[in-house]
Amino acid sequence: MSATSLPATAQPRSGETFDAWKQAVVQRTEKALERTLPTSSTTSARLHEAMRYAVLGGGKRVRPLLCHAAGFAAGADPLALEVVAAALEMMHVYSLVHDDLPAMDDDDLRRGRPTVHKQYDEATAILVGDALQAQAFITLRETPISAERQALLMGELAMAVGSYGMAGGQMIDLTSIGVELNRTRLEQMHRMKTGALIQASVRMGALCAQSLSFDLQALDHYSAASGLAFQVVDDILDATMDTATLGKTAGKDARDRKPTYVSIMGLDPARQLAQQLVEQAHDSLEPVGAAATWLHGLADLIMKRAH
Ligand code: IPE
Ligand code: IPE
Ligand code: MG
Ligand code: MG
Ligand code: MG
Repeated sequence: MSATSLPATAQPRSGETFDAWKQAVVQRTEKALERTLPTSSTTSARLHEAMRYAVLGGGKRVRPLLCHAAGFAAGADPLALEVVAAALEMMHVYSLVHDDLPAMDDDDLRRGRPTVHKQYDEATAILVGDALQAQAFITLRETPISAERQALLMGELAMAVGSYGMAGGQMIDLTSIGVELNRTRLEQMHRMKTGALIQASVRMGALCAQSLSFDLQALDHYSAASGLAFQVVDDILDATMDTATLGKTAGKDARDRKPTYVSIMGLDPARQLAQQLVEQAHDSLEPVGAAATWLHGLADLIMKRAH
């Protein structure tokens, strides 16, 4: 199907700006999270309260945005997308809660507030991560699509966060402290620890549609480039922004002797690389046509963000 004959659902409402679309998706995501997370009064109340503290306390909601943008391009039902987006955010927050633990990055601040192990305790933070990971799959079961499609989404998510993806990347990260990684290994680490869930966010959004009018490979190329760009920019922001703006401790990577794109290539080459990756992401969207408009905007946002 050409860009001029896209399904009606994939045409931006006339005059809707990227900012208005983004705000609407973030609001929709907050509501879906509020609804799908167990209430604080459900047993175990302390665990549920801590899960809600972790998830409902801000964040850019980039993975939900990517899921909605890809689903929009594919003509998926927004009601399905909001459930899948909530599951993705839960999985992401689980990774942040564990990433901040003393045994990992040992961070006190996240999204401008005390990390879960500071606000509660370490054992609670471990359990919050465990439970959010499970809650993501519990939530996916509510997606209003066929059971077969749900199973497909669950497989996508599991692959992205296990040892082939996020957990594997985090292992490379933690065993690379003070180690001079070469570019190939650094790229592999970034693609696994951060890129994999970003790729899954895009794929899962598209897979909510009944059929695709373009090759899913185009979106895979887009998300591979955007996912790597996302972590390159995270490395740059850690080195250049202040704690108040980031909502997490600035300058931590250098202090912890983490290999990053900034430590390996320097600041300006890292910025140039991020820009090149965003351009690659834009170019990959060509087969998707006009329906890729929000995906296009999100690649820009990944580059231009200040936190
Ligand atoms: C931070 O992710 C961790 C990385 C994978 C780089 P985000 O920058 O998306 O964090 P929030 O969700 O906005 O807090
Ligand atoms: C985190 O990378 C990646 C995951 C959470 C999987 P970082 O350790 O760089 O993330 P921040 O900077 O603490 O958000
Ligand atoms: Mg880390
Ligand atoms: Mg960290
Ligand atoms: Mg970081």
